[in-house]
Amino acid sequence: MIINTYVYINLRQRFVEEIENNFSVQAQILSNRLLVAVDKPCYSFDRLTTSKIIEPIIHLINGRVLIIDSSMTVIFDSFYVLNDKRLEIYETERSLKGESVSNIYQLENYGKAMYISVPITYADCIYGVVLISTSMEGVFESLDNVQNMLFVISLVTLILVTIISVFFASIISKPINELITAMKRTVKGVLNEKIEISTNDEIGQLAHAYNLMNTKLSYIEKQRKEFVANVSHELKTPLASIKILAESLIEDENANIAMHKEFLKDINSEMNRLNNMVDELLVLADLDEEKLALKFSRCTLNSVVDKVVTTISPLANVRNIKVTVEHKDRIQIVIDQGKIFQALMNIVHNAEKYTEKNGSIDIVIHCKNMHAVIEVQDNGIGIPSANLPYIFDRFYRVDSDRARKTGGTGIGLSIAHRIISLHQGVIEVNSDINRGTTFVIKLPIEPRLYSI
Ligand SMILES: Nc1ncnc2c1ncn2[C@@H]1O[C@H](COP(=O)(O)OP(=O)(O)OP(=O)(O)O)[C@@H](O)[C@H]1O
Ligand SMILES: [Mg+2]
Repeated sequence: MIINTYVYINLRQRFVEEIENNFSVQAQILSNRLLVAVDKPCYSFDRLTTSKIIEPIIHLINGRVLIIDSSMTVIFDSFYVLNDKRLEIYETERSLKGESVSNIYQLENYGKAMYISVPITYADCIYGVVLISTSMEGVFESLDNVQNMLFVISLVTLILVTIISVFFASIISKPINELITAMKRTVKGVLNEKIEISTNDEIGQLAHAYNLMNTKLSYIEKQRKEFVANVSHELKTPLASIKILAESLIEDENANIAMHKEFLKDINSEMNRLNNMVDELLVLADLDEEKLALKFSRCTLNSVVDKVVTTISPLANVRNIKVTVEHKDRIQIVIDQGKIFQALMNIVHNAEKYTEKNGSIDIVIHCKNMHAVIEVQDNGIGIPSANLPYIFDRFYRVDSDRARKTGGTGIGLSIAHRIISLHQGVIEVNSDINRGTTFVIKLPIEPRLYSI
């Protein structure tokens, strides 16, 4: 509509200017020719000469022609109405002062008309005025038609654009509304719900990202529930034992000092178990949260393994378990020493715990494909193959009867697994029941240090 209005205004201006120029030129020609009819010293026109000059060409001018002398008296009127009358109008006044003037008026009887007036001058003297008036009705009618046409074009365009916009807006907003509804359901706790938007555009990608987020959320939620259930279950067992032991002491009035001591010893060991469990849980929470807080540094992996062996040896010696280390390669590696020590310690400690008296633990270190490989092999009780996929899960213990005897909470391997994953490494296990278990840890020598 704005463009159409602009076009219309320009067109109208051009039309009017064109007509104005045409008539100005014609008036100017007449003015030049009429100089012959002027009696210069008297400033008067010879009427006969004037008529003779104008009559032959009057039919060429599409309008009314008036010749007015310097006293504003009409000398010639092509309509023969105003002859010898005074015509004091704005245009004649201005032109007698030397200006060429043009104006458009709305006349009662003739409608729109243009007045063009030009002075008749010779040697800086003004002898009169040529005034042409022409009807603009036809011109403005054509312009009105153009205006109406442009208005109709604008209207049709507007309607079409509105229909197309509404159509496309509904196509675009439909999947967005679907997404919003799905998100509201997620907020209400409905997880694991997928949206079916298969387009490849931004909305499709958004839906895909939402689906991924939802899957992750439901996985985290499942883990959280399992974790809370496991923790409360594991904490409950030692707490129940402590409660029973304490109650029996309170209720048994005949209990002697030896019995008191024995019961308190049991309570103390249950408390130690609780303490260890809470410590391990804190380590796990730490690893979950601060995955970027590893303190990487370059070190010799062999010395870290030696430290693990030195730490476990006193315990192994008690049950005459032989621990050997074979350093096939010396490996310089970038790791968080403390964390890797803890992971290896958990694995070697398991090897010691789940190996009978006089058994052996053999550790081998070597380098393969830019990875450090540490193998921890024991000849202990082994793990049934059905249990192998779960041993890295939190609180998972192969045989709770057996596990109770050895003590522990089932978190050690999940901590080790997490630490090794944070180093972009892998941990694998092979086991034969009653023959032994081998843990293989592979660590990249130069990890991508995204966490530094
Ligand atoms: N070397 C091994 N030989 C046989 N069984 C093992 C060995 N290592 C781990 N397991 C089994 O895997 C289970 C999980 O081990 P994990 O270290 O996570 O827990 P845990 O040793 O029972 O307790 P803790 O949290 O104190 O380490 C153990 O309970 C045990 O049954
Ligand atoms: Mg363990």
